[in-house]
Amino acid sequence: MRIDILTVLPQLLESPFSASIMQRAQDKGHVEIHVHNIRDYSTNKHKNVDDYQYGGGAGMVMSIEPIAAVIEKLKSERNYDEIIYMTPDGELFEQAACNQLSLSENLMILCGHYKGVDERVRTHYITKEISIGSYVLSGGELAAAVVVDAVVRLIPGVLNDETSALTDSFQDNLLSPPVYTRPPEFNGLKVPEILLSGDFAKIEAWREEEAMKRTQERRPDLLK
Ligand code: ADE
Repeated sequence: MRIDILTVLPQLLESPFSASIMQRAQDKGHVEIHVHNIRDYSTNKHKNVDDYQYGGGAGMVMSIEPIAAVIEKLKSERNYDEIIYMTPDGELFEQAACNQLSLSENLMILCGHYKGVDERVRTHYITKEISIGSYVLSGGELAAAVVVDAVVRLIPGVLNDETSALTDSFQDNLLSPPVYTRPPEFNGLKVPEILLSGDFAKIEAWREEEAMKRTQERRPDLLK
């Protein structure tokens, strides 16, 4: 998979992809992540990427010209499965969309800033708008990093034990059951007896029951 991210703050996207699973996924060739600075495409002498909004009002708007220039350049080089705009008024990001995106060959992600982006970018270029939650971030970069992380870990071969993505919370609309590791007792806090029993059928049944219980308690909406 190839992911192109368009931003005015490329520094914000350096560390999320340079450690652990995301770094390994790139080293092993499962994904290429390219970050493009929209400012490099500004033809204006001050390298501006935003302007006052028509009709007045507080807050600058990201201009169409430099964004169109990056998008047109990238589109002339390959076909994109989706051109995504990160925005709080987008579709709420859930595991189903994440699974779908993980099947893509090429993704482009535009990070919003200021008051937003000129509407013509959205109507003319964007194929999908994503929100990572009902709150407003300073920009789309952290949201883009969340989407990339959630998608890339689903690419076959990225996780060492492939079944571990399948048993994630949400994959079957259930939250994950509790997990424990050594020691079996810490200051009187014990690991459930069944997990030490070695009876794998019973352990599996216990896990399913706990997953159901946890989902009913915390996210009953998932069971509807
Ligand atoms: N940009 C600002 N806030 C955002 C959010 N909640 N999701 C996606 N992009 C955003």
